[in-house]
Amino acid sequence: MNTCTCAPELKEKEKQDGLKELKDFIKTGKQLHDKQGALMNVLHKVQEIFGYIPREAMDVVSEELCVPTAHIYGMATFYNFFSLKPKAKYQIYVCKGTACYVAGGARLLERIEDELKIKLGDVTPDGLFGLAITRCLGCCGLSPVVQVNDEVFVRLVPEKIPGILDKFRKMEKKTK
Ligand code: FES
Repeated sequence: MNTCTCAPELKEKEKQDGLKELKDFIKTGKQLHDKQGALMNVLHKVQEIFGYIPREAMDVVSEELCVPTAHIYGMATFYNFFSLKPKAKYQIYVCKGTACYVAGGARLLERIEDELKIKLGDVTPDGLFGLAITRCLGCCGLSPVVQVNDEVFVRLVPEKIPGILDKFRKMEKKTK
């Protein structure tokens, strides 16, 4: 079955280059002076370099800043702008707010899972699509709503999901 519970891993060379860049960044000493601020700053850098917070990067940060890995892990999971998994190129957010739920949000979620053959929180094996839920997006009058990256699709019905996914697949082909 074409499913994946883990996102595509970085290639070893990319990872090593990224870790070197991270060490150089920490060594420049340009981070904030207090430890918590420095950690936050460095984690943002990790996210910028890798697109997520890989375990190896946490180990480097722990060693360089003398902060326990468990503390870094806690911070990386507390703030939702950090991610412990590589993000997909097109992240799909299904609104799970009340209005969208009542208007059929759950059926949209099911259809997307069926089409992509992944579950909530996963990324497709090619790294193209990720699936997550979000709280109210602020357009309840147009529910149910799904957001893909910055684009919002309103008054959506499950039948329209394949066409939307194809649109992003075609965009991807054009960029190659
Ligand atoms: S509940 Fe979905 S946009 Fe408000």
